[in-house]
Amino acid sequence: MSDPTGSPRETAASPPVAQDVAALRLAVAQWRAAGERVALVPTMGALHEGHLSLVRRGRAEADRVVVSIFVNPTQFGPGEDLARYPRTFDADCAALAPLADLVFAPQAQEMYPPGGSTMINPEGPATAGLEDAFRPGHFRGVATVVAKLLLQCGPDIALFGEKDYQQLKVIMRMVADLFIPVRILGGETVREADGLALSSRNRYLGHEERARAPLLHAAMQRCATAIRAGEDATSVIASERESLTHAGFAVDYLALRDADSLGDPAPARPRRLLAAARLGETRLIDNIAV
Ligand code: PAF
Repeated sequence: MSDPTGSPRETAASPPVAQDVAALRLAVAQWRAAGERVALVPTMGALHEGHLSLVRRGRAEADRVVVSIFVNPTQFGPGEDLARYPRTFDADCAALAPLADLVFAPQAQEMYPPGGSTMINPEGPATAGLEDAFRPGHFRGVATVVAKLLLQCGPDIALFGEKDYQQLKVIMRMVADLFIPVRILGGETVREADGLALSSRNRYLGHEERARAPLLHAAMQRCATAIRAGEDATSVIASERESLTHAGFAVDYLALRDADSLGDPAPARPRRLLAAARLGETRLIDNIAV
């Protein structure tokens, strides 16, 4: 699928693939010269319907859609799943063939050239706690690679899934703080019929774990309903956390936060319930509006 010259190329089963920044910029410059608007959907591949829904939304909002596929090493901590993260490039390109105008699939040296020493360190309520408490340094890697992708591509809009709600907030904050001229859009979480949020990591779930995995979303819905009805959030959360533990989940967090800042929640403001829990070797994350 890749082209040794690094130039975009077309096959019947794939959009053109750019492997380096020069080829990406050339394609985007040609579209811009024709007055076209560009959307970028950053991904790590192993695409599912959640990603494809973002690509379709990108199509609706812009004239051209670029999908980046890059498994970003700097956002994985020691002992995390970088080596076994699913890599399904040909299938991803086939799924994108009818939807995307260009796939940007750089190698690690293109994104992190030798000698590079600049990283972005997000801070503040959007970053603190939740994922950051369990994956220290994760958002440093995410913010850095997303800033690079935005600067390499220069899109009008970039789309990210709400399933990674904290990531979306960290990116929105970073784009505002660094005056990066792009509009960030969040796409609704896509779920299986039983409520499980789609994730590239769901394929790690064994048969029996897959059957139990929707209990996370069910517990979150019960929490949200009770909190909306005026029950005490702390005790509702403690009780659902216990029920998840009883069902075999190792709960990293189940927390109510302000939906915009991710700081402490206030009843008069929109709130978000966010969770991460491990089921065997698989770490599931999810969030819902309250
Ligand atoms: O959500 C993801 O797939 C990744 O964190 C992202 C935004 C593509 C950065 O590597």
